[in-house]
Amino acid sequence: MIRHDEANQAALRTSRILPALLVFLLGGANLCPAAAETPSGRDLYRQNCMACHGVDGTGAPASMVGFDVPLPDFTDSSFASRETAGDWVVVAREGGPARGFSEIMPAFGDALTETELLAIVNYVHTFYTDKRWARGELNLPRALVTTKAFPEDELVLSTGYRHEDPGKLSNKVIYERRLGPHNQVELIVPFGWADQSSAATNDTDWQSSIGDVGLAFKRVMFHSLETGSIVSLGAEVFAPTGDKDRRFGSDTTVFEPYLAYGQLLPLECFFQAQTGFIVPCDSQEREDEVFWRGVLGHSFFTGAYERAWSPMVEILGSKKFTSRVRTQWDIVPQIQINLNTRQHVRLGVGARIPLNDKDTRKPEYIVYLLWDWFDGGFFEGW
Ligand code: HEC
Repeated sequence: MIRHDEANQAALRTSRILPALLVFLLGGANLCPAAAETPSGRDLYRQNCMACHGVDGTGAPASMVGFDVPLPDFTDSSFASRETAGDWVVVAREGGPARGFSEIMPAFGDALTETELLAIVNYVHTFYTDKRWARGELNLPRALVTTKAFPEDELVLSTGYRHEDPGKLSNKVIYERRLGPHNQVELIVPFGWADQSSAATNDTDWQSSIGDVGLAFKRVMFHSLETGSIVSLGAEVFAPTGDKDRRFGSDTTVFEPYLAYGQLLPLECFFQAQTGFIVPCDSQEREDEVFWRGVLGHSFFTGAYERAWSPMVEILGSKKFTSRVRTQWDIVPQIQINLNTRQHVRLGVGARIPLNDKDTRKPEYIVYLLWDWFDGGFFEGW
């Protein structure tokens, strides 16, 4: 009896200790009772989201869900990688309309805590497997001058006005397109109006002109959400399509190789930098130049839908190689505002203010309108 009892007790003890030991060895966190009680992102996803989004994140078939609004495919790396956890938490908390989506996507704000929503969203982000695509968190707000490291699918119309005599209004249409996980190509078409009147006449004579059309290529060399950094190499080439006499264009082909860097900082702050060269084919027409640019910014979010506002300040430096002109410095205070609910149409405004040689260089007021066309049509999601 005793033996039997003892054996029983021993068996009972082993049956408790062994699994506990195994659990401890495989991942100690599960031993903690609190952790065991909190459902994981995976469990919460299965309870709350799976019915519509499918067990694998590709979306349940329309015949099963009973509506025909297309469901997102969370396994599509090109799409899922560029969505930030923050944006998805807002959609899950407030419902589809918070980002201009269908109201069929329910609001879970009353049912789930912020921590639970984040756990689900982090789980949803494990559905896409091609980690060569940089995460959307590294896609920092676009500064007025400094080129960002993140590759984009966007269309930008930018306008600059420099209060000089005679006056000039310069615009640029920029079309950017991602090619695969790392690369981006870009077409830049500058155009504008310049006052052609001479000092002798009092009349203004504004004439339109196209500028030097540019083609650009950018490639992400490194990105990491853990360190919050992204580094890219790029090059732009501008053809002499502009009319130099009308003050548009430089009459020579110009190359601009550069290195771009983006860094997330604590407290929703960020830093971006770009450095490169401006290398004209014909140095009689334009001088070689080296430039360096830095941006420090902060994003804050207003309202339940968390509209993003990003004030930034850029410092720009450039030095011509040959001439005795000293290094030129500019400061560019500015703000980027997300205009619509989807947050894929944005406005940037600011002024490029010379810090030296102020009598020859005048401030330029710059504004851009940006449409991230990958996220939907221009008129969608307002
Ligand atoms: C009743 C069905 C349903 C449930 C349940 C549901 N969703 Fe959705 N969800 C949708 C639909 C439909 C859309 C697409 C809306 C659109 O494109 O207009 C969507 C879109 C989304 C998007 C937007 C993706 C993008 O395009 O950026 C996210 C994120 C999302 N759901 C997360 C969740 C999470 C997380 C849960 C669970 C907590 C959940 N959904 C539960 C129906 C549902």
